[in-house]
Amino acid sequence: MFITFEGPEGSGKTTQIKPLASFLSRRGYRVLTTREPGGTQIGDQIREILLNRANTAMEWRTEILLFQASRAQLVEQLIRPHLESGGVVLCDRYADSTLAYQGYGYQRDLEALRKIIHFATGGLQPDLTFLLDLDVEAGLSRRSNDGDVNRLDAYELAFHRRVRQGYLELARAEPQRWVVLDATLPPDLLQSQIQQILMERIKQGGEPTRSEIP
Ligand code: TYD
Repeated sequence: MFITFEGPEGSGKTTQIKPLASFLSRRGYRVLTTREPGGTQIGDQIREILLNRANTAMEWRTEILLFQASRAQLVEQLIRPHLESGGVVLCDRYADSTLAYQGYGYQRDLEALRKIIHFATGGLQPDLTFLLDLDVEAGLSRRSNDGDVNRLDAYELAFHRRVRQGYLELARAEPQRWVVLDATLPPDLLQSQIQQILMERIKQGGEPTRSEIP
């Protein structure tokens, strides 16, 4: 089963993924936890280029392709083999981040992006996606309090508002895959909601499986 976490900066995805991985491991699932951009040695080098605030000259096409390059490596090297051997993958951001940030945020052509994403992933889609939804101002202030502001965080508020609306639109378009959660809830409560929803899904669907677009 392939599970992804999406949401704006500071929505607490990482905080939720860690205890969920332990929860699933305790129940006997083989869990791979990873993140984008990065997750592999090659991907982490691409991540460094993408998030480096000194790279102000980066062209938008370059940025899109670098995200896909990191994703292609992660899918083939880690995600697909783990799914094929029956494991569960928890991924901090995946293709929906490209649609939300590069598509809605930068207002680039969504259909073109979908094609590039399909090329990069070989059509691998998550079975379940949790959106940790959060008001834009609240998210960014959480990040700047951490002192952890990256190149993309530094864009203007309107950009981040479009990203949030983009996520909500993607979730509305595919309600069977997305679960929208309130990221302002206390982390423990959020975690128990995630665990409950996930266990229900696993029960409904029998053994964890993966879905793929032909
Ligand atoms: P990161 O520090 O991992 O942020 P977060 O903790 O919020 O996940 O930085 C990843 C940044 O890259 C984040 O601002 C979202 C952005 N991003 C895209 O713009 N497109 C993408 O396809 C991906 C995967 C991430």
